[in-house]
Parts: sequence; structure tokens; C-alpha cells
Amino acid sequence: MFENMPWGKRNRLASIVAPDGHALMLAIDHGYFMGPTTGMEKPASAIAPLVSYIDSLMLSPGILTSCVPSDFRKGIVLRASGGNTILDPDIDNEELILDAAEAVKLNASAVAVSVFIGSEHGHRTIMNLTEMVNAASKLNLPVLGVTAVGKALKDKKEKRYLAHASRICAELGADVVKTYYCEGFEEVVAKCPVPIVVAGGPKLNTDKDVLELCFNAIQCGAIGVDMGRNVWQAAYPEAVIAGVRGILHENLNVTQALELVESLKSKKTKRIELFSETRDE
Ligand code: R5P
Repeated sequence: MFENMPWGKRNRLASIVAPDGHALMLAIDHGYFMGPTTGMEKPASAIAPLVSYIDSLMLSPGILTSCVPSDFRKGIVLRASGGNTILDPDIDNEELILDAAEAVKLNASAVAVSVFIGSEHGHRTIMNLTEMVNAASKLNLPVLGVTAVGKALKDKKEKRYLAHASRICAELGADVVKTYYCEGFEEVVAKCPVPIVVAGGPKLNTDKDVLELCFNAIQCGAIGVDMGRNVWQAAYPEAVIAGVRGILHENLNVTQALELVESLKSKKTKRIELFSETRDE
């Protein structure tokens, strides 16, 4: 999949994509625009039981250095764009918040830059991606292009838009693209020449919905997921991540993965609502 890349880049990508070609990335970067959102108020304790199931963690640099032990051995995907929060009119007015050399100092396996294509600040965000691609290339640091939507683009989670945005990330040099799953997703994958991982989006109604999303994305050609809230906002985060892992790395179908999730619920810890006033929107 990454054969033609330089060794350093391939080595970094190997800590994100497992030998079976699939990638289970746990996204916990939400705080960069949402603050201490439900389920991620205390990142260190929230991720501790989940780490053994994942291939990599996607997070902000400050949460890496403050909440992740320095003997962490999974892949590290650092959020490198940001600048607005949910208290602003929209979140698309982003700039780069991390430079490539700083990411390498933090032993990043890759950096993630969001693009909000078609939004008010879309051009700026596209330039953020190109700037990072050029800087990261000098360090053999892979770049994850993230097709973000925000408020203005929230109705754009459909194949025509997502194929457009994903393809543009690939055209501009992203090594992997993160986008949303949608109806007709195989077309999004087919039109994007680099591997795709899917975000989970806001919390779905049931664990089965989460597993179906993962299974269908893989069937359509995604290499994996970069999923957050549907894991750590679940009642039983460890059971759900085990089910997701089952689909990605153990060839389980949805029924089998759901059986695994249900069987683990009695053995794994239920998530406790820590605070009643967390702001999610
Ligand atoms: C966007 O890049 C966000 O920061 C998250 O990383 C992304 O949305 C994946 O998380 P979730 O599965 O909760 O949507």
C-alpha cells in the first residue's frame, strides 16, 4: 500500500496501519474545539482501558504530553490544525497549530490537518494542508488529510461532496484521508487514490449501528476507522472497541462483533457520567 514511500514514512505508517492492512485509530482530539466533552473529561483514565485494542491514537499535542505515558508504544497521530472552537460562529477558520519538526520531536507517526472545502475559510484550510505536506515531506512524516464539515457544511456528509473533498486531500499530497461514511461510500473510496479511514461522527443510537458503520466502511474499501465518540461515549467503551477491533482485525461480521460486545458488557467497566455540565455542542 505504501511501497513507494521512503523508509521513514513507511515505518511511521506501520504504526498506524497493521500488517493486515487495516487501521484502528482512536480519535480523542475533540477537545481542541469542543473542550472537555462528555466521555473525554479526563483523557488519561478514559483511554487507559482502550489502548490495548487500538493501533494508534489521534490527539492534540497538549493531551499527548499531559495525559499519555511516555512509554506509550502505539501510533501517534497529532492534530496539527485548529484555532476555532464551538463557541465561535463556526470552526472552519483554522490555521496550523503544530509544525512538522515539533511533531517529529513528539515521536508522531503522522500529523492530521483538517480541510473545510467549500466553507468560508476553505481556501485557508486547503493551504494549511499543502503547507504541512511540504514541511512534513522533508521529515518523512505522513500527513492525514481530514475532510471536516463544521456547521456550514453539516449537510455535506454525502458521497458527491465527500468524494470531492477526499480527492482534493489526495491531490494535495495527503498520505491517508479521513472522511465520513455515507451511502454509496464505495464511490468515495474508488475516486480517492490514497487509503481512507472513516470518522464515526456524533454518537449513534446503538452499538450495532457503530459496528455496522465499521463493517460497511471496510466492505466499501476503507482501510479502517478514526473513531472517537462512538467508542468513549458508549455505555461500555471497552466492549465497543473490542467489537470494532473484531471487525477490523479478526474478520468478524456485525453479528459476531455484536455478540462479542454483549458478552463483554458484564466483564468490562461501565462508563460513569463524571460531570453533568459538559458542553458538547
Ligand atoms: C475531527 O477531526 C474530529 O476532531 C475527530 O477526530 C473526528 O470527528 C473523529 O471522531 P468522531 O468519531 O467522534 O467523529
